[in-house]
Amino acid sequence: MAIYPIRTFGDPILRTKAEPVSDFDRHLERLVEDMLETMYDAPGVGLAAPQIGISKRVFVYDIGEGPGAVVNPEILETSGTFEFDEGCLSIPGHFWPITRPEYARVAGQDVDGQPIELEGDELMGRMLQHEVDHLAGTLLIKRLERDLKTEFMREWRQAQL
Ligand code: NI
Repeated sequence: MAIYPIRTFGDPILRTKAEPVSDFDRHLERLVEDMLETMYDAPGVGLAAPQIGISKRVFVYDIGEGPGAVVNPEILETSGTFEFDEGCLSIPGHFWPITRPEYARVAGQDVDGQPIELEGDELMGRMLQHEVDHLAGTLLIKRLERDLKTEFMREWRQAQL
C-alpha cells in the first residue's frame, strides 16, 4: 500500500471529467487500497481518484462505519435540503456552509465489477454527492455562494504570488 500526495485546487486534473473503469483487475484493487490508505492518513471521510492524480471513476469513503469503495458511480436520486459545513482534502483548511439535497442514492460497482447501491442522508448523503462531483471535475468551490467564492479566489490568487 502507498500514501499518495493529494492534488490541490488549481491542479487541472481536479477540473477534468474522470474516465469510466472497465478493467476490474488487480490494478483497480491496488488503487482502492492506496486511496483508502491516503484518505485515512489525511484524514478524510471520502477521496476520489482524481485527487491522487488518477482520472478514473472511483471513490473511497468511511463516514465512521467502515471503509467502502464505489466504481463508476451515478446519482440515481436526491431529495430534501440540508446545510452542512463542507470541506475537501483538495482545499485544505476551508469549511463552508453549503446547501445540497439531504438524501442521495447512488448506483455503481464494487471492485469486482458487481452492481452495488448506496444511500444515505446527512453526512452519508453529503459525502456521496461530494465524491460524485469530483468525478465530474466539479469542486465544492462551484457550489459556494458568490461572495464566498470571490473571497476564496482572491485569497488563493494572493497565495500564488
Ligand atoms: Ni473533496
